[in-house]
Amino acid sequence: MTDPLPNVGIAFNAYEPVTGRSEEQLSEESVAEVAKDVGEAVKKLGYPVTIIPLQKSFLNFLRRVKDLNLDVLVNLCEGFFGRPQWEANVAATLELMHLTFTGNKSRTLAVCQDKHMAKAILSSYNLPTSPSQLLSSKDQPLEVRFPVIIKPNAEDASLGIGPNSVVSDPERLAVQVKRVLDLYKQPALVEEYIEGREFNVAVMENKTVQALPVSEIDFSQVPESMPHICSYEAKWLKDHVMYQTTPPVCPAPIDNALKGKLQQMAVDAFRALGCRDYARVDFRMDGAGNIFILEINPNPDISLDAGYARALNAAGIEYSRFWKYMLDNALRRKKPHGSPDGAVR
Ligand SMILES: Nc1ncnc2c1ncn2[C@@H]1O[C@H](COP(=O)(O)OP(=O)(O)O)[C@@H](O)[C@H]1O
Ligand SMILES: [Mg+2]
Repeated sequence: MTDPLPNVGIAFNAYEPVTGRSEEQLSEESVAEVAKDVGEAVKKLGYPVTIIPLQKSFLNFLRRVKDLNLDVLVNLCEGFFGRPQWEANVAATLELMHLTFTGNKSRTLAVCQDKHMAKAILSSYNLPTSPSQLLSSKDQPLEVRFPVIIKPNAEDASLGIGPNSVVSDPERLAVQVKRVLDLYKQPALVEEYIEGREFNVAVMENKTVQALPVSEIDFSQVPESMPHICSYEAKWLKDHVMYQTTPPVCPAPIDNALKGKLQQMAVDAFRALGCRDYARVDFRMDGAGNIFILEINPNPDISLDAGYARALNAAGIEYSRFWKYMLDNALRRKKPHGSPDGAVR
């Protein structure tokens, strides 16, 4: 007898504005779009689907999830109440409810949200990252070399990263550090700026951990006055020159040796951070060919028009097939005496 079709829920966090940072609405709102894309893909598999927004009342959300008696939940929650830092807390609650869900476990989400901590773990596995320092005051002495890039330590989606984030002198450094401390209320990560090419590698777990084709951000058309970075403008503002001049190219035009190196490092980083199901690893390579991991994104943007889906496409893996893999992974974790990662319902 074949198993009945699994009853699938798709959870996402609906937009909640953060005072003083309304310009960042676009990256937050995109999560609702992803839920639609995933809903269509899961329907294509023939599975019954319910979309469950997480908004304002966490208790109502949990009640809804519980009442639906789901077999598996697709967790697309990238935060709660406008706070990406609570992404891990949402997953942790699902674990405490013994819910089976797709994507990364709370521990990985929490560690990767703290870029400084994630870098320390990567270094302990001999995976290279750019020299950096965490600053909690604008007067702390700098121990890394200019030029540097200043970013909030615990945001994502390029929040707080703009054309002025790359600096070469102490005065501008102080301004940027103060900006991060005041606006984002968290320490600033100051990292040596790696001039050069930027790559990212999507990693997928489907029985084994495998890297998808490498993607590159093509900076060749960026106006001379602008730094070659994926700033907030470059990622989200479709009419902005930085958006229009930083197209992603997948597969990247690189030789097999570099491709193999990036893919191996991506898989190693996935394992080092204890990732599960899917993640994306961001890299820079300097002029001498040295590769640095910028960060690991567990549960990266998985919408049809984002980088991960582009990599799936380049690998010849249909989007709904990818979701079949993810749902199968989650359902496999749902054993009567399953793992302590909260996968048992
Ligand atoms: N050390 C660095 N050297 C060069 N560019 C960097 C560095 N750190 C970040 N960037 C640029 O800023 C972008 C966003 O930084 P990242 O650390 O990936 O944060 P986010 O979580 O916001 O994506 C990167 O895609 C890259 O273009
Ligand atoms: Mg990034």
